[in-house]
Amino acid sequence: MTEKYVIAIDQGTTSTRCIVFDRRGQLVSLAQQEHKQHFPKPGWVEHDAMEIWRNVERLAPRVLRRAGIELSQVAALGIANQRETTVIWDRLTGVPVGRAIIWQDTRTDALVHALASSPTAADISDISGLPFATYFSGPRLRWMLDHTPGLRSRAERGEVLCGTMETWLIWNLTGRRRHATDVTNASRTMLLDIRSLDWSPEACEFFGIPRAMLPEVQASVGDFGTATEAFPGVRIGAALGDQQAALFGQTCFNPGEAKCTYGTGSFLLLNTGTELVRSEHGLLTTVAYQIDGEPAAYALEGSIAITGSLVQWFRDQLELISSAPEIETLARTVADNGGCYIVPAFSGLYAPHWRSEARGVIVGLTSYITKGHLARAVLEATAWQTREVVDAMNTDSGLTLTTLRTDGGMTADNLLMQMIADVLDVPVVRPLAVETVSLGAAYAAGLAVGYWPDLDGLRQNWHIAGQWLPTMNPTTRQTEYTNWRRAVERTFDWIQ
Ligand code: G3P
Repeated sequence: MTEKYVIAIDQGTTSTRCIVFDRRGQLVSLAQQEHKQHFPKPGWVEHDAMEIWRNVERLAPRVLRRAGIELSQVAALGIANQRETTVIWDRLTGVPVGRAIIWQDTRTDALVHALASSPTAADISDISGLPFATYFSGPRLRWMLDHTPGLRSRAERGEVLCGTMETWLIWNLTGRRRHATDVTNASRTMLLDIRSLDWSPEACEFFGIPRAMLPEVQASVGDFGTATEAFPGVRIGAALGDQQAALFGQTCFNPGEAKCTYGTGSFLLLNTGTELVRSEHGLLTTVAYQIDGEPAAYALEGSIAITGSLVQWFRDQLELISSAPEIETLARTVADNGGCYIVPAFSGLYAPHWRSEARGVIVGLTSYITKGHLARAVLEATAWQTREVVDAMNTDSGLTLTTLRTDGGMTADNLLMQMIADVLDVPVVRPLAVETVSLGAAYAAGLAVGYWPDLDGLRQNWHIAGQWLPTMNPTTRQTEYTNWRRAVERTFDWIQ
């Protein structure tokens, strides 16, 4: 019998990857392509959706060739994607009406403030589980409709369609036949009723989004059609937002299990089961996943906008290192931060603050500070931001996190892993499979077609690769945390 495999497409913020996995959840081959980041104005960040689709088309034959397999050996395809990034395109030509506006973009700041002061704003947060912030797709869609001449009437007539990146890929993969999203991605728009798991007429009206342009909402593990392009003949069995996919890939299927993915930003998700937990401390209530025919699992999420992208900024804008891994070597040249703290509020501050007007600060500079201290402060910024969301999570859930499962590109940095264990005062573990976003999408797609029988089978594939225990003394931890919080306060001082 010919061996079968599952393919994941991970459409991320900086690149798109296609990965082939085998039945044991092991990576067989990988192909990756970066796409251009467009920064037309301060605070604006855009992607060319067509470039991203072309990359998928290019990666498909490459990843199959590298795996040495035929299309007929692919049991299913799963998609994981950068969430909240939004594109509108022409239904007939398939051409985007403009660039995709990405999740880090803050152009909707004034609009969000105006909407948040409306008398019904609290109802919309209650329906969607989300606070008012530039992060989410709803305000972004409204901005696009308001700023592109004629677009609103075209949207009302159903001539243009919108979607986040999984919807864009599903539409292209199926030869423009399926216009669909999944519950996890839809739960990031502010337009979804997270209880009924369908578009909320009230929220759509509030944001002024015509229903005709929205995709159909489906379970994450289900049937998104059969590809006719890129992977012709392969069933698309799953779509999930990338952070939810990582939760799935880390096999956090039980309430109380959590993971944090360290990428461009970092996202800590705690599975709360079928119970929808409301945050009172700046976290998001979001859908973790839904298997077709079953109730959805929910999560509490602490979203941190800037972590890996601070390292990129240190490399590309300050040019103090020439490759990202060098940050660890540079940080190890000093014993501590020398009193210096960097708060990277480049897109405002997300959880638990939700202050889109905040701007980044470096505090504590003296002539003693070297680039080594700055490198340390860069890494510590990720650790302290994690501490802030873990504190909020413990308070909201009434549970105390006892171990943190990590994944994502930044987890290759052992010094960072140690710092996180130190500031949280809990062990940090890294699994053998660090490609958890793709793995989660593959698992979900494999489940949809019976390639893997059930969730329990997937748990067997999770193996620990590294563990870091806290070593920081409690007094230092407390002093450093106080200093960090004082630095965070400075990011608000800058607001006019
Ligand atoms: O919410 C944004 C998130 O999904 C982006 O993830 O890994 O593409 O930076 P990533």
